[in-house]
Amino acid sequence: MKVALVTGASSGIGESTALELHKAGYTVYAAARRVQRMEGLAAQGIRVLAMDVTNDESMVEGVKKIIAETGRIDVLVNNAGYGSYGAVEDVPLDEAKYQFEVNVFGLARLVQLVAPHMREQRSGRIVNVSSIGGRIYEPLGAWYHSTKFAVEGLSDSLRLELKPFGIDVVVIQPGGIKTEWGGIAVENMQKTSGGGAYKEQVRQLSGLFSQAERGSEPKVIADVIVKAAQARRPRTRYAAGFGARPILFARRVLSDRAFDAMFLGALRRFA
Ligand SMILES: NC(=O)c1ccc[n+]([C@@H]2O[C@H](COP(=O)([O-])OP(=O)(O)OC[C@H]3O[C@@H](n4cnc5c(N)ncnc54)[C@H](OP(=O)(O)O)[C@@H]3O)[C@@H](O)[C@H]2O)c1
Repeated sequence: MKVALVTGASSGIGESTALELHKAGYTVYAAARRVQRMEGLAAQGIRVLAMDVTNDESMVEGVKKIIAETGRIDVLVNNAGYGSYGAVEDVPLDEAKYQFEVNVFGLARLVQLVAPHMREQRSGRIVNVSSIGGRIYEPLGAWYHSTKFAVEGLSDSLRLELKPFGIDVVVIQPGGIKTEWGGIAVENMQKTSGGGAYKEQVRQLSGLFSQAERGSEPKVIADVIVKAAQARRPRTRYAAGFGARPILFARRVLSDRAFDAMFLGALRRFA
């Protein structure tokens, strides 16, 4: 029996991933802060862990419990994350640091806790949920994009470090997905920058994010994560969901200035 740990499993992509891994036959541990939101998963036989990825003790205890109960861990899906939006000028640095705590350091700490067990098994797969935002950029999204660019770089280094031990590292780059993410990001940017010099940009980006609400279902990403977990030779990156491939293609072929112009044009169109 293969064992998987999925963070951010109380909602959206993480919840769907826990379900799909369970259906694929894994013993799944679903982790998040809002344990009551995972009752539906528990009812289906998924094991639920109270875990805050900014709280070291909760991560240490969670991994200890998995090892005590199953003796192994085969797949770690680092998915917990949120979008801290607002102008760089306005976002308090404590909030910027918290954004890194959740999206980067929480992920890295779980790698530290899980990798020794995977090394001992001489197998394992770490799936890090980045974003197309790990390759592109938006105004008012500087801290979110910084964290996802960091996840991209960290994952590449980690892939090389863990290769000799039979452990693979895969990056997932979702496009627009219908989850709680967009509402939280809009709320953050409106609270932080909605009333000042950047209010017009906030209005425009909020308009664009409302379009993103027409995005793909979380299952689209969950299915890709299951594929990444099971493939004998996984790709290093999987881009999926609304707009992901065309947007990444545009980023690859356009100059910075041309991409700027394309993005600002889209902002004006959706405002
Ligand atoms: N939705 C999109 O369009 C999109 C696009 C690209 C990338 N992504 C990425 O996909 C991942 C999942 O997001 P989602 O779209 O599924 O959003 P979501 O519905 O808001 O779910 C986010 C999950 O992260 C958890 N989380 C947040 N802060 C946490 C913390 N401190 N400790 C533990 N868990 C925490 C939440 O659980 P609790 O609050 O219960 O802890 C929740 O389960 C994120 O990394 C996000 O950046 C999303």
